[in-house]
Amino acid sequence: MIDLRSDTVTRPTPAMRQAMAEAEVGDDVYGEDPTVNALEAEVADLLGQEAALFVPSGTLGNQLGIRLLVPPGKELICDTVAHIVRAELGSAAVLGGITFRTWRAERGLLDVDEIAELITPDAGPHMVSTAAVAVENTHNFGGGTVQPAASVDALRALARDEGFALHLDGARLWNAHVATGVPLRDLAAGFDTVSVCLSKGLGAPVGSVLASSSARVAEARVWRKRYGAGMRQAGILAAAGRYALAHHVDRLADDHARAGRLAEALDVDPSTVDTNIVAFDVPDAPAVAAAAREQGVLISVLSPRRARLVTHLDVDDDAIDQAIKALQPLAA
Ligand SMILES: Cc1ncc(COP(=O)(O)O)c(C=O)c1O
Repeated sequence: MIDLRSDTVTRPTPAMRQAMAEAEVGDDVYGEDPTVNALEAEVADLLGQEAALFVPSGTLGNQLGIRLLVPPGKELICDTVAHIVRAELGSAAVLGGITFRTWRAERGLLDVDEIAELITPDAGPHMVSTAAVAVENTHNFGGGTVQPAASVDALRALARDEGFALHLDGARLWNAHVATGVPLRDLAAGFDTVSVCLSKGLGAPVGSVLASSSARVAEARVWRKRYGAGMRQAGILAAAGRYALAHHVDRLADDHARAGRLAEALDVDPSTVDTNIVAFDVPDAPAVAAAAREQGVLISVLSPRRARLVTHLDVDDDAIDQAIKALQPLAA
């Protein structure tokens, strides 16, 4: 099977497993795991933030980040298909008492004019006050899109002027960095909390990191334990993340090139493919996915008429050639 459903399906490479086996470890709930501490310091530095916290999943990174920014009963604004509102099972409401309003985003892209219309930072005693806006970069269900720098700049300025906070869901910020050449710290600048994943394109089996100010990270550490995600000898997992940062960032360019090849072969507008995700319309996405499976290719269904292909560490050029052969007649 050629698995193009997601970049989360990768298996750790032999070299990554070796790094995990050799990791120096300690009890991370005591703050004594040297590999976790090194990973947290490294990611904080890469993102230009004061501190960082290793967490098991991107969902937890997002949820800890937004609960630090949005008190119960206030609102978070994001787009209608942001992972944080569509794919985290209502966690912000269930665990954080957070309400949402959303803007409808073309390909997941920021629409700062619409955000400016939506926000009500200080809504008084009758209406819900906006505490924060969440941005996803790259945008998963939007098709791996990179948020345009000018839009992010405009949003930063709006947040400063209107006094609301900014959360960045940077599960695939590495892809945005490689696609644009913009340093990670510039992509993360101006965001109050930033969540990045090691288990997507970077190919680690587990792990995300939430970065922010030292004070917020200290608070997030308390909530992480409260949510039951304090981990002990987690250096075994953090070692995979450190290995991924050292060896798997630059190679994302290969995933992007392969996504470009898929798009070209399937007649998808290349301007809609910024990184490693190809999202495209078909008359019947579940039927196409079922037929693709028969041909040995796994793909995702985003909606009844939209399908998604994701390139990653475990699909090479030959696999892309085979996938193209199988998918071309189905996507036509
Ligand atoms: C944009 C985005 N944010 C957050 C997550 C959540 O990550 P996890 O599956 O590790 O909870 C995902 C997962 O695919 C994602 O695509």
